[in-house]
Amino acid sequence: MDLRALAQRRLPSPIFHYLDGAAEDETTAGRNTSSFNEARLIPRCLVDVASVQTATRVLGQDIAWPVICSPTGASRFWHPDGELAVARATASTGTLYGLSMNSTHGLEEVASASAGAKMFQLYIFKDRDATCDLVERCKRSGYQALCLTVDTAVTGKRERDLRTGWGGPINLSLKSIASFASHPRWLLGQARKGLLSMPTVATMAGTTSIVAQTQYIGRELDPSVTWKDVRRIIELWRGPFAIKGIMAVDDARRAVDVGATAIIVSNHGGRQLDGAAAAFEVLPAIASAVGNQTEVILDGGIRRGAHVLKALARGAKACSIGRPYLYGLAAGGEAGVIKALDILKTEFVRAMQLSGCTDVRRIDNSIVDGRSGA
Ligand code: FNR
Repeated sequence: MDLRALAQRRLPSPIFHYLDGAAEDETTAGRNTSSFNEARLIPRCLVDVASVQTATRVLGQDIAWPVICSPTGASRFWHPDGELAVARATASTGTLYGLSMNSTHGLEEVASASAGAKMFQLYIFKDRDATCDLVERCKRSGYQALCLTVDTAVTGKRERDLRTGWGGPINLSLKSIASFASHPRWLLGQARKGLLSMPTVATMAGTTSIVAQTQYIGRELDPSVTWKDVRRIIELWRGPFAIKGIMAVDDARRAVDVGATAIIVSNHGGRQLDGAAAAFEVLPAIASAVGNQTEVILDGGIRRGAHVLKALARGAKACSIGRPYLYGLAAGGEAGVIKALDILKTEFVRAMQLSGCTDVRRIDNSIVDGRSGA
């Protein structure tokens, strides 16, 4: 939250609220975090926790601890180094970076920015050929995993963006314009980096204008995508594959049927359907329905190391975070992302030790007791 406060100070308000905000009344976003309070840890004592084992493996990749970074579009808004900074920070801290298709550095540039593990996040566009071409580009660039986000049939109603005028089409309020004017450091940082663009989408849309690229994405998001399309992408990719945005047990089972390596239990950080359950609330039922047939990754609301511990206890193999690393990025670029990850990891290790857990691969439901499941 200290990094969030720094981010708020450094960013013009429309940019900060685009990062921080969620859909409508933001109840789902709030619940994503508050639901962790309903699971209470029952610590074990007199266990030798002098050293604990945090390394694990997701989507075919060894990671130093069970937290990965979720795909988040347009990271140059938060810092001029954008996705490159996150790719370097995740590589140096030993975790996996999910790069959004809507990134402000191209997928090839991000691939070569670090040797760390990377997953590319895809939306299936109406133009299926262009979508398939993108999958081929990911293969050529060496992405180890592919992630398909399935909770964006249409875009959520994000009211903070409507108020600031940042929601498409851009129509800034006077207050928003004044906020840009009072953040010269941000403006200078952006100006030094040159024209803002989403290079991956730019190639597909055939335009260098970010406004036109955003309009292209709006036109191409396809509300008619079904499981049949998912199968086609999986067959084309033939590698570790995650489906992001699963919230229902039956959909989790279908994800197993189509051959997903992992499901990311997620409501998009509350940015899509307000009123949806918290990701943590639906986790136990999904984890017990799929068992070991697919990896379960919990995404949304993680703000403390103990949240990660609770998610693992309720059946997740790993967790994924969005805003926490973006607050770090806005606060201090690559060093800020490392700081955010370090805070969370230090808390997680401490929570493991204080609960008597010695190995992430052996954390189970016996350390939680509460109302939200299992
Ligand atoms: C996102 N998220 C997202 N998800 C995705 O699949 N593709 C994307 O391009 C984006 N873009 C995006 C931008 C911003 C600013 C945010 C905050 C989020 C959702 C993201 O991957 C993840 O699901 C949530 O951020 C998880 O919730 P927390 O950790 O932010 O609470």
